[in-house]
Amino acid sequence: MASNVGIYGLGKAVPGRVLTNKDLESLVDTSDQWITTRTGIKQRYIAEPETAASDLGYAAALQALADAKVPAAEIDLIIVATTTPDMPFPATACIIQDRLNARNAAAFDVSAACSGFMYGIEIGQAMMALGYKRVLVIGVDVISRLIDYEDRSTCVLFGDGAGAVVLGPVKPEYGFVASEIGADGSGAMLLHVPAGGSRIPAQIASIEAKQHYVRMYGREVYKFAVRIVCESAERVLNKAGITADAVRWFVPHQANVRIIEAAAQRLGIEPGRVYINVDRYGNTSAASVPIALAELAEAGLAEEGALILLVGFGAGLTWGSAVLRWGGYSK
Ligand code: UT7
Repeated sequence: MASNVGIYGLGKAVPGRVLTNKDLESLVDTSDQWITTRTGIKQRYIAEPETAASDLGYAAALQALADAKVPAAEIDLIIVATTTPDMPFPATACIIQDRLNARNAAAFDVSAACSGFMYGIEIGQAMMALGYKRVLVIGVDVISRLIDYEDRSTCVLFGDGAGAVVLGPVKPEYGFVASEIGADGSGAMLLHVPAGGSRIPAQIASIEAKQHYVRMYGREVYKFAVRIVCESAERVLNKAGITADAVRWFVPHQANVRIIEAAAQRLGIEPGRVYINVDRYGNTSAASVPIALAELAEAGLAEEGALILLVGFGAGLTWGSAVLRWGGYSK
């Protein structure tokens, strides 16, 4: 069911500091060759100590608002998808609302890890059906704060960043023509951070046991990812009444180039229609899909009427997919 909600503008932001595979070679027992062949990643951006999620999210939001030509005062809802908020509360969305001076906006955070942006746009569409008119959805993570740079199985994968979109009404048949979000909590422990919440609050013992860092069963998550990207993508393509041939751009969550290529191949989407930037950013969690989409738009690759397939997946386990027909602004 088309929501008549589309993307008016996009933005992205990354920190200035680059961490290359070569840099990682001096931190852990790894090699540029292993990282490149197993993940496709060559470099990632890492936030300076003073940079928090709201800083990157704010920078991406400013760009998205400028791109959309929508003043902050016209935004009536801000959704921030993040698992690395500035602090447990208030919501990072409220901190960004204040910095934008978006005084007419309600603001809250969504916790769905790497699928967070897909959850955000699903909720944004639903809220627009309730009457909200201009929704700012930001995907941001400073995931490096949760990474143990002595653990080679995780530290090579992730990077920091933010992506943002402004949602607004579009002409019929444009915008999000079909979408879904989903979860399978039975896989919650496959990718998690044990401490820092109400089960194991921060304490000296939790720090000593490195319980504030990401723990991941990589192979299990990999298998889940390839399966769910295909299943979820096929469901939304079906809902949209189209086949994979009609998709101009497949913009998946950028976690590992092997996951992307395996899923694209199974879906029958050839390499020329797959957007990949994991080599430059690593896995930026909730920021990954909106950064990729912002780049696609910035490069002029998203043409009016083009069908774009977005798919996210991550901890939870969670996923979300959408088919988007680009353009059709009624502003
Ligand atoms: O947003 C969702 C987040 N997570 C993901 O999407 C992650 C999904 N999983 C993956 O992308 C892959 O499973 C990884 C990239 C994490 C790992 O690739 P893999 O091909 O599944 O490797 P593996 O875990 O089976 O490990 C193969 C070998 C192991 O050595 P042994 O046991 O074969 O001797 C690891 O110890 O590679 C070793 N290894 C490394 N070697 C060099 C693991 N990490 C590294 C490393 N450098 N950084």
